Amino acid sequence: MSKTYEAILLAAGKGERLGAAHNKVLLPVGKEKRPLFDYALRVFLKDESCRRVILVIRQPDMLYMKQVLESFYHTIPKKLIFIEGGSERQYSVEKGLAEVSSRETEYVMVHDAARPFIDQKMIQALFKEAQATKAAVVAIPARDTMKRIKDRKVKETLYRPEVWQVQTPQAFHVNVLKEAHQQAKKEDYLANEEGELVERLGQQVSVVLGSPINFKVTTPEDLKLAEGYLMRQESIHCTSDKKDIR
Ligand code: CTP
Ligand code: MG
Repeated sequence: MSKTYEAILLAAGKGERLGAAHNKVLLPVGKEKRPLFDYALRVFLKDESCRRVILVIRQPDMLYMKQVLESFYHTIPKKLIFIEGGSERQYSVEKGLAEVSSRETEYVMVHDAARPFIDQKMIQALFKEAQATKAAVVAIPARDTMKRIKDRKVKETLYRPEVWQVQTPQAFHVNVLKEAHQQAKKEDYLANEEGELVERLGQQVSVVLGSPINFKVTTPEDLKLAEGYLMRQESIHCTSDKKDIR
């Protein structure tokens, strides 16, 4: 069984719904004012099972990203590479995936850089599940009742115990994810997350319990919420976690 994976960390969006002057993942947050994308990046860099992080970015953000990483890490971390993304999230994943060779790596993890609250435990549980089943996603049970609505009219009430909210990270056998992307490309199909593309192959996708705190920073309210969590987290953990990640 392969002991390592490569991570595709998605940072090539524009952050339009957040409405900041720059891509939201560049925004400095928390006490240390580290850019939002660096929170998830740091977790992958520290994870010994992660052999490489493919940071998918927009060309105009590249210079700033490199500068800010150099200031926080002194140098660009060795296992980090930069790849230019595409116009849609799925195309960004595709470009990252093109860098992954199934001869070198058996597993790949895809994560939104806009989700800063991942941890080692979550990643390890997900990786273990993917090694056993080839495809695994992190998700949480829906807390509210979910209904299908069209033109502000309720069409259907979904059975809540079976409704979950899917997050990232998501982990796959490299060949499975590559095949899923090839199929989607052939059929011109766009999805919001990789799990759906893999489901369309008829491949079972298993679920690992995520966390409500693993939300995606999408709107200005989310950013405030993230700031609040980071301030509290950092005051609890402070800088006790100083393992060298260069
Ligand atoms: N992303 C990407 N390439 C794209 C679009 C999105 O790599 N073409 C990344 C984003 O940087 C983010 C993640 O995918 O980390 C989830 O996307 P989303 O929350 O939609 O981010 P944005 O597309 O940047 O935001 P918005 O849709 O509000 O513009
Ligand atoms: Mg988007």
